[in-house]
Amino acid sequence: MNSNDIVLGVTNNLVSNGITNKDMLFDYNSFLKHKKMVANSAWEVPSTTITPIMERLLFSIGQGIQGNVVCLGSYYGYAMLWLVLGNNNNAEYYGLDIDSLACKYAENNFKRLFKQTDNIHIECRNAVNYVEEFEDKSINILFIDVDSNGSKALYSLLIDKWYKKLKNGALILAHDPCIDKFAEDFNKYYKFTGDRRHFSKEIILPIDECGIHIARVEGDEYESN
Ligand SMILES: C[S@@+](CC[C@H](N)C(=O)[O-])C[C@H]1O[C@@H](n2cnc3c(N)ncnc32)[C@H](O)[C@@H]1O
Repeated sequence: MNSNDIVLGVTNNLVSNGITNKDMLFDYNSFLKHKKMVANSAWEVPSTTITPIMERLLFSIGQGIQGNVVCLGSYYGYAMLWLVLGNNNNAEYYGLDIDSLACKYAENNFKRLFKQTDNIHIECRNAVNYVEEFEDKSINILFIDVDSNGSKALYSLLIDKWYKKLKNGALILAHDPCIDKFAEDFNKYYKFTGDRRHFSKEIILPIDECGIHIARVEGDEYESN
């Protein structure tokens, strides 16, 4: 099975299991068109663990977004890019990273790609503290890929802090659940996402060696610890 068939099957299953909404789809021709656009824009990134199959999955999830998107640990903007591409629903996108050089590159990457980038906000900010200044409470996708000293130890703190900014039905996408060295950090993270008072569904998708965990926010209001 090739990457396209896998992503088509995965996205259909996510919809039929009620994890994502039915407007999420994988349109290969649209993906290809956008992939060429990215190549022509000479997108710069020194290295990335976002694989071709993950690009496709993020692209599919991005199609169905009705609301705003926040990427914690946006680096040069590459994962964020695939959530942005092809969405026509006037979403606002926020990429946060503490690396100022990476933020500069991310900003320039988006500017080279799109004529208009008013809805794309790259902020050189600490994702842990910035949440208190972030006024929007209608986030539809929270993508987490923050590394701290080579660990994913901040994921639990980030979900605790950002939950209150998410819409009912929002998705939290956490990158890297399949990496062995992050197992302990993810076990702590799953204590949050496994709480059915606040998350209706969750799944780990081992579509590449990093994988991605998706949790659907649905339920009672949550008091941050
Ligand atoms: C694995 S990289 C992210 C890769 C990125 N998602 C991509 O698309 O290629 C992890 C990023 O987390 C950032 N980071 C670490 N601690 C952070 C924090 N407290 N707040 C925001 N970003 C942080 C690092 O600067 C680094 O760019």
